[in-house]
Amino acid sequence: MNTAQKIIAAPRKSICRISDHGLWDTTKWAWSHVAARYREWSLNIETESWVDVDKLGYDPECHGYKPITFARFDSVMKEIEVKPGEDVFLDYGCGKGRALVLASVHPFRRAIGVELSTELCDVARENIGRAVRRLRCPAIEVVNADASRYEVPADVTMIFLWNSFVGQTLAMVVEQIRKSIEKNNRPLTLIYALPQGEKDVMAECDWLYGRRQIPASFWTGIDVFVYQAGKTERTVYQPLQSEPVR
Ligand SMILES: C[S@@+](CC[C@H](N)C(=O)[O-])C[C@H]1O[C@@H](n2cnc3c(N)ncnc32)[C@H](O)[C@@H]1O
Repeated sequence: MNTAQKIIAAPRKSICRISDHGLWDTTKWAWSHVAARYREWSLNIETESWVDVDKLGYDPECHGYKPITFARFDSVMKEIEVKPGEDVFLDYGCGKGRALVLASVHPFRRAIGVELSTELCDVARENIGRAVRRLRCPAIEVVNADASRYEVPADVTMIFLWNSFVGQTLAMVVEQIRKSIEKNNRPLTLIYALPQGEKDVMAECDWLYGRRQIPASFWTGIDVFVYQAGKTERTVYQPLQSEPVR
């Protein structure tokens, strides 16, 4: 759909959404779109349009491209301590590079995005190139690889995972992270974002600890859990409250 078609379709879409979700929810949804457009413009990136999994030709365990919302990623980074020039960020399934760019606004020593699709890797690299003047992280790399076979570099200290894959692929990724810690024991923070209502598979890993939920600052429909792994140098947070904070 081109921009003109989107504008023509907008009133009808809005009316349908109001009848399905109510006025308040629709207002927040509309606002989040306006805010997203502003952030894209201010960072000079284009990460908004989704890429359906059918177009990528993956097996059913791997998901297509749908970026984390700006509001949700920001709310996470507000709660996470980044050690300037020390921490190294890794995004599993970086797609067009939104989370990678948003992380690189912070003073990570380096940031890595792993992405299965060659086309999406190219888009991510273009986005990084366009945003680079606004970023504080001096070294950003996009690796075209299957996450399940990607060996986690020994210096990675923060991992972001948003709805990229499930099943055996996710299990293999979790095992890669565990092996990396076993080989090179260091404090590691795992940021695990998942659509609301989905099962948190990390809760079953006995080598992850300090589980906490990052409250949403705004309507997003994305639950975020943060875990610690490896050496206990970071703060260990209280266990999750019985009711999620919203
Ligand atoms: C939900 S999007 C996440 C986008 C990104 N993390 C962000 O928030 O901006 C999932 C991404 O994972 C990628 N992906 C799916 N399976 C993968 C795999 N096995 N290895 C690497 N990337 C994968 C998809 O191509 C897609 O870009």
